Amino acid sequence: MSHAHGTPSPVASRSGTPLKGRIRVPGDKSISHRSMIFGLLSIGETRVEGLLEGDDVLRTAEACRALGATITREGPGRWRIVGVGIGGLTEPKDILDFGNAGTGSRLMMGVAGSHPITSTFDGDASLRKRPMRRILDPLVQMGVTVVSEAEGGRVPLTLRGPRETLPITYETPAASAQIKSAILLAGLNSPGKTTVIEREATRDHTERMLRHFGASVEVAHHGTDGRAITLQGQPELRGTDIVVPTDPSSAAFPLVAALITPGSDVVLEGVMMNPLRTGLITTLLEMGASIERLNERDEGGETVADLRVQHSRLTGVTVPHARAPAMIDEYPILAVAASFAEGTTRMQGLHELRVKESDRLAAVAAGLAEAGVAYAVEGDDLIVHGSGGKARGGGNPVATHLDHRIAMAFLVMGLATDEAMTVDDGAMIMTSFPSFIPLMRELGATIQD
Ligand code: S3P
Repeated sequence: MSHAHGTPSPVASRSGTPLKGRIRVPGDKSISHRSMIFGLLSIGETRVEGLLEGDDVLRTAEACRALGATITREGPGRWRIVGVGIGGLTEPKDILDFGNAGTGSRLMMGVAGSHPITSTFDGDASLRKRPMRRILDPLVQMGVTVVSEAEGGRVPLTLRGPRETLPITYETPAASAQIKSAILLAGLNSPGKTTVIEREATRDHTERMLRHFGASVEVAHHGTDGRAITLQGQPELRGTDIVVPTDPSSAAFPLVAALITPGSDVVLEGVMMNPLRTGLITTLLEMGASIERLNERDEGGETVADLRVQHSRLTGVTVPHARAPAMIDEYPILAVAASFAEGTTRMQGLHELRVKESDRLAAVAAGLAEAGVAYAVEGDDLIVHGSGGKARGGGNPVATHLDHRIAMAFLVMGLATDEAMTVDDGAMIMTSFPSFIPLMRELGATIQD
């Protein structure tokens, strides 16, 4: 299941029949990574159902094994982890290779770095470009030594942890659940209280899972949109059961595909509706999308719903910067939806998009240019001038820069453009949504790989 570093494999999509049917997208990537990590840090057995078996999560599983966990796959999406407990990690014999995975590598820096072991982190060409200072700075304050790092605080880098970390209070410099989570995970091996302050609330899966595994976490409001999260260190985490809800960031692709493909009527089953993840749905509803939330229920501590999505006439809107944390991974696919809308969509304050698996602002802009969509980048804002329901498509293959979401966004676009769209490499789709192509085909999409 590992993604290839070799020859790129282009994939093309073209318009055809309306999309119809019911599908269930795979488990949430954020919760899947954390399931492995909490399993490692617990005493006893953790059983996971619905794990996303994408390359990113499998890398995290491999790293957890290298740090002492016993991990077995018991069936599709069903995994068993026997942990070693906080303080019990063993020193890995080899480099921890995270491939394309920003979340896995950053969270695990908090985990391994907070223990008295030496661990080396590396990844693919995309991960080697991504900023790690944002993680290293707070870890150093907690007593972690950065033994070596690539230029500018990048992987490959080596950490050496203290016997116990120092409890700190830290205000994150960017709205990032990865920074918050790395600090809280490092705070688990601290004798005192660790507090993370975020000016804008970001996805709260770490906080929820800390509680689920038995830690004490207090969350207070901070300013207008922010939160202060305080963790009592050195709890005894106990292995438990986890049901991973489906990933709204993956559901976003078939969802927008149905909205832009004439005649479509699709149901996406059991999509996680955590309010810190549903910014795309809020935005699309404002644009006039027909999305019905059906059969709302609780699955594994999260609200999920079946989403019925029908082809819709969309209208351009302004998406405020304050909504970015709740839809940070969804801007590429929103830009695609905006291309088919009537009028202009302005997405404000997208600076964090520049440090994702690729510079997503630049990659989206280049893809829109290939498809003949009128757009502008003004500072950190992306402005898309919609064509009122039709778009040309065609152009040269869209450069995906080792970024799964760029690949999927432009393949979705090609389902509704006049000319077919091609992406230069579909291999990275394996990192987060391995069943993307078969599921889209099940709905009737024409995708050729
Ligand atoms: C994630 C946080 C986000 C998101 C990523 C997953 C997480 O990153 O883009 O796909 O699981 O914590 P940032 O924390 O960098 O915004």
